Amino acid sequence: MSESRVGIWLIGAKGGVASTSIVGVCALARQLIEPIGLTSHQPQFTHLPLPQWGQFAIGGHEIRRVALIEEASRLVTESRTVEASVFQACREDLAAIDARLRPGVLFRSGGTIEELADWDVPREATPRAAIERIRRDLAEFQSSTGCEEVVVVNVASTEPPPPDNSALPETWNELQAQLDDRDLPLPASTLYAIGAMLAGCCHINFTPSLGSNLPAVADLAKRQGVCHMGQDGKTGETLMKSVLAPMFARRNLDVMSWVGHNIFGNLDGRVLDDPSNKQAKVRSKDHLLAEILGYRPQTHVSIEWIQSLGDWKTAWDHIHFRGFLGAAMTLQFTWQGCDSVLAAPLVLDLVRLTVAARRRGEVGALPFLASFFKSPMGVEEQAFDLQYRMLQAWAEKQ
Ligand SMILES: NC(=O)c1ccc[n+]([C@@H]2O[C@H](COP(=O)([O-])OP(=O)(O)OC[C@H]3O[C@@H](n4cnc5c(N)ncnc54)[C@H](O)[C@@H]3O)[C@@H](O)[C@H]2O)c1
Repeated sequence: MSESRVGIWLIGAKGGVASTSIVGVCALARQLIEPIGLTSHQPQFTHLPLPQWGQFAIGGHEIRRVALIEEASRLVTESRTVEASVFQACREDLAAIDARLRPGVLFRSGGTIEELADWDVPREATPRAAIERIRRDLAEFQSSTGCEEVVVVNVASTEPPPPDNSALPETWNELQAQLDDRDLPLPASTLYAIGAMLAGCCHINFTPSLGSNLPAVADLAKRQGVCHMGQDGKTGETLMKSVLAPMFARRNLDVMSWVGHNIFGNLDGRVLDDPSNKQAKVRSKDHLLAEILGYRPQTHVSIEWIQSLGDWKTAWDHIHFRGFLGAAMTLQFTWQGCDSVLAAPLVLDLVRLTVAARRRGEVGALPFLASFFKSPMGVEEQAFDLQYRMLQAWAEKQ
């Protein structure tokens, strides 16, 4: 297996998910923590050509000036998910990674995200100029670290739903001819995906933002021989939905309504408090029920920012269903988890599996990664167990 360095480039590199992922890689490389929560450490995946923890170099884009080490220290002092001794042992690594972070791109990001930007973020006039800067930053990272592969992961704040892009061309050749048009309806997440692919990097979209989910960008991935997948990591309440809804379907129980209330207080929650950003997330959390059940029960998803809770999310779901003789019954569950701790191992699994896919010669979308996403691109299957079987089947393939 190749011992060469592998790059992880995080968009939103100082956020909760990114800083937890970074501390995680550093701690795993130093063998300070166990690989609990990492799917790729299960025996059925260890034969794959996965990169090892000590092989990673990390960089990224960010729009906030705050030091990475300061953000990471909040994992010790605020969410209390990282041991102080682990943080101290990783301090030098964090400083080295901070030095590799570059100002990000803001483009159709919406007012709430724009307000977060206090770093010197250049404001390019056209999508082409912004894409070119992203491509250059990635090329510089790759050459300065000597990475053979770089996987770009979008863990930036959720953008508002993109403006109507139905008129955009379906091929990369046609789209790239329009990149000087400053009114092109492409958000920053898509510019990052294009920049990544042009730099020869694979792209993973852990957010509900548009990212690479456009035919012309999928076309670019194939032309560049890179892999991509998204959208929106499936970490908590929606993971439960994709496990429980198949149970109701298979027992022929009639789900009449499913209400999910989510409360949490981190920066992600603050951004999602803006109704337009929230719309993208609610859509991503809601659509799978009808797809699994085959009919549309009444549903309600709420997401509320309650600052005192920090990164600790509580989801309360109330499922009202009918059984034999039409009897109405209820299932309720409460999910309490630390959002970043749930998300970080998925980010790291996605990076390792994407590198393995690339080493196995895969190009384009990676449907076998569906179990990691709320809205897996190009995959209709939403039941978690069946999605997990897709991953196993891919791993067993010669
Ligand atoms: N369990 C989870 O935490 C979870 C699950 C699924 C999806 N997600 C998604 O992952 C993303 C990250 O979540 P988080 O909790 O780390 O959020 P966060 O708010 O802590 O971090 C987001 C980071 O992105 C930065 N950012 C915003 N716009 C940017 C841009 N255009 N370029 C570069 N950086 C930019 C912000 O400054 C911030 O540091 C969110 O979109 C969230 O919805 C999280």
